[in-house]
Amino acid sequence: MMSKVSDYSHFPVMLGECMNLLAIRPDGVYVDCTAGGGGHSKAILERLGRGGVLVSIDKDPAAVRHTSSVLEAVGSEASHHVLQMDFSQLDDALDAFEIGHADGILADLGVSSHQLDTADRGFGYSQDGPLDMRMNPAALLSAREVVNRYPVGDLARILREYGEERHADRIARAICRRREIRPFETTADLAAAVASAMPPQARREAQHPARRTFQAVRIEVNGELDALRQLLAAAAGRLADRGRLCILSFHSLEDRLGKESFRSWENPCTCPRDFPHCVCGAVPLGKTVSKRPVTAAPDELEINPRSRSAKLRAFERIIS
Ligand SMILES: C[S@@+](CC[C@H](N)C(=O)[O-])C[C@H]1O[C@@H](n2cnc3c(N)ncnc32)[C@H](O)[C@@H]1O
Repeated sequence: MMSKVSDYSHFPVMLGECMNLLAIRPDGVYVDCTAGGGGHSKAILERLGRGGVLVSIDKDPAAVRHTSSVLEAVGSEASHHVLQMDFSQLDDALDAFEIGHADGILADLGVSSHQLDTADRGFGYSQDGPLDMRMNPAALLSAREVVNRYPVGDLARILREYGEERHADRIARAICRRREIRPFETTADLAAAVASAMPPQARREAQHPARRTFQAVRIEVNGELDALRQLLAAAAGRLADRGRLCILSFHSLEDRLGKESFRSWENPCTCPRDFPHCVCGAVPLGKTVSKRPVTAAPDELEINPRSRSAKLRAFERIIS
């Protein structure tokens, strides 16, 4: 029986499914690129024994502190390290511990429930806080700069591309008109301006009309898609033979990046389709573990609303 999501913790999405796909060996080397509340990291560490290694990464210092204490409490014989860094620097993280290749790499993308629910981090539209949205509070770009300074065309593009927002132009124009009177300072301020810019039928949607705008601004502030591209560019080269990369994504943009990378790693041939056989000589890096993404089981969907949009894909590196 699964327990309800607690007030602090981020409830780890598809925990069992991730562990199955990572196929953890007790003496293997694993990287959790998105430590968050430490749920997945803890489950990995519990499966490791002497000789095993876990490197957990997060760019949010609060997540790093929390995960460190969660992992300390496991009392494992395996070595474990928690680093505050961007997962786009995967190579640096592994080089720091002289790790050549990992047996498993996990990325559970996006924000944690803890980040969303902590009002003064400024991620959420459902409670008021400063317009911030930085996963790393030391980063230079915050939501305040994006919303108050970006030209209307850039705002509209971000809303369209990162939020898949149909009313992107209309919302961007409304934001720019409003900020000329008074700059945006709070999440409630932005949420209200977005809601009032929406056509009436969109305002009546079951979910908050500002949710796509908030997603888009958050992705821009944290450079989420570029970081994922860089992680994907590095990850295949850092997997050991039979090592697996698992990507847990929460919107179609992230899922597409993972899916396309896996497809090109599995079939890197660039020869024209009508060539009788391959002449480019590109060698497949491995295989996709399941053709279709894994989604959350009904019992998880019932207790963890965040799992609704989750898609899990895995790739297995084959060297020999
Ligand atoms: C969905 S939560 C992970 C939750 C975690 N798996 C757990 O079980 O508690 C995503 C985490 O990834 C972090 N994150 C997102 N993008 C990152 C990046 N590019 N580099 C490092 N950490 C990142 C966020 O700060 C957040 O803590």
